[in-house]
Order: sequence, then C-alpha cells, then structure tokens
Amino acid sequence: MGWSDWIRGDTEVEPSLYAADFRRLGEQIDSLLVAGCRVFHFDCGDGHFVPPVTIGPVVLRSIAPSIHEAGGVLDCHLMVDDPVHHFEEFAASGADSVTFHVEVADDPAAIADRARAHGLAVGVVFNPETSPERAAEAAASAAAEIVLCMSIHPGYSGQAFMPEALGRIETLAGLVDVPIQVDGGVGRDNVETLHAAGASLFIAGSAIFGAPDPAEAYRGLAAAVA
Ligand code: DX5
Ligand code: ZN
Repeated sequence: MGWSDWIRGDTEVEPSLYAADFRRLGEQIDSLLVAGCRVFHFDCGDGHFVPPVTIGPVVLRSIAPSIHEAGGVLDCHLMVDDPVHHFEEFAASGADSVTFHVEVADDPAAIADRARAHGLAVGVVFNPETSPERAAEAAASAAAEIVLCMSIHPGYSGQAFMPEALGRIETLAGLVDVPIQVDGGVGRDNVETLHAAGASLFIAGSAIFGAPDPAEAYRGLAAAVA
C-alpha cells in the first residue's frame, strides 16, 4: 500500500496533528474521521534539524490503531537530522509513510530503501532555501511517491504562508510526475491557488485545529479543492 492507494480523487486535505489540542486528541481525530478525513499528517521534530522537539512514536502508537481501523493512514514528516535512525520505530508504532528532508539526504536512494524495508511508503521534502531542481533530483533517485514543498520554515504550526512557494510548486510540477504536497500556512485563502499551481496534497494545521469546529474546517478545505 502506498500513496496511490490513499489519494481519493485527485486531492487530499491532511490535518496536521501537531496543531491539535492534545488534551482532546482522540476526540478531534474521531470527528475528522467522521467528516471523511483519511490521511493524517504527523510531524516529528528532533530539536536539531528544527528547533523544537515535537511529537514522536509514543503519540503515534496511541492514535494509530483507531485511525487504521477507520481506514485512515499516518503520513509522517520527519524534521530530523537522521531519518534512517527513526524508520524502524516509526513503522512499529503505526506509521504508513515517511517523508524525509533532502537537506539531510546524501544518498536519497539508500534512505528510501531503508524506509521501504520497514514497509513504509516514501516521500521527500524540501525547505524554502532548497531548489525545486534539487528536490526533483532527490525524488527521482529515491523513487519518491510524493514530493513535499515547504511553504514555511519547518518547525512550528501557525506561521504565515510564504507566497514564493507558489512559483516553487509551479516549477516542481514541471519536473516531477508524482503528487505534490504543500505544508505551512495552508488555509481557505490560498488552497485553491495552491491547487491551480500544481499541488494536490494539502497539509493544514492551524487552519483546521485553530477553527472553532475542526471537522467543519476540514470539510470546507476539502470541498474547495474537490
Ligand atoms: C511545521 C509542520 C507543519 C505544521 C503546519 O513545520 O511541518 O505540518 O503543523 O501547520 P500550519 O498549517 O498551521 O502552518
Ligand atoms: Zn509537516
């Protein structure tokens, strides 16, 4: 199973659980599943590649069974210096895919092989300072199923969208033939423009969990790009 099995129609909106209210995490996930959400984005930051330590396998283990039971999957964005070190534990904890940063990938093909050895689907991600050309090259080498274009500097939810991401997505769309994912500052005000630029997987943290009704916010975003 991989990304081509998970994307229904041409687009998916993925709530970024990093932005959830962790006192009510299970309840918020359940309401998103009822609203039709199936792909959840899970951000692991190591405190080195990005300043904060975020969430990791302990949280993954507690939420994965109910998400899988409902037919959902967990898309794990590894904002870490050494992604390979984490693959085994992420796979054992219920991750379905891992996306690793090209900035720390000297040998994307070897890293991807290690992930697939643990049954994980593979994506690559690139930061605002990294060229789409370099990302496309890493994606080809890794045979990545998706490429994630960061539209913020990774690390925190709730940052403002960087408008130059639109041009970067357009450039990337001319270089790769796999789905393009976008992460950072995505909301109702820019999701349609991002779709038109060539993105099809939309990660939304604060636009969903910062809303009074996260399920309603998810439905609104999904309808806007359906
Ligand atoms: C931060 C993470 C994002 C974050 C997005 O680096 O990669 O997934 O949770 O949050 P918003 O949508 O609020 O920018
Ligand atoms: Zn992310």
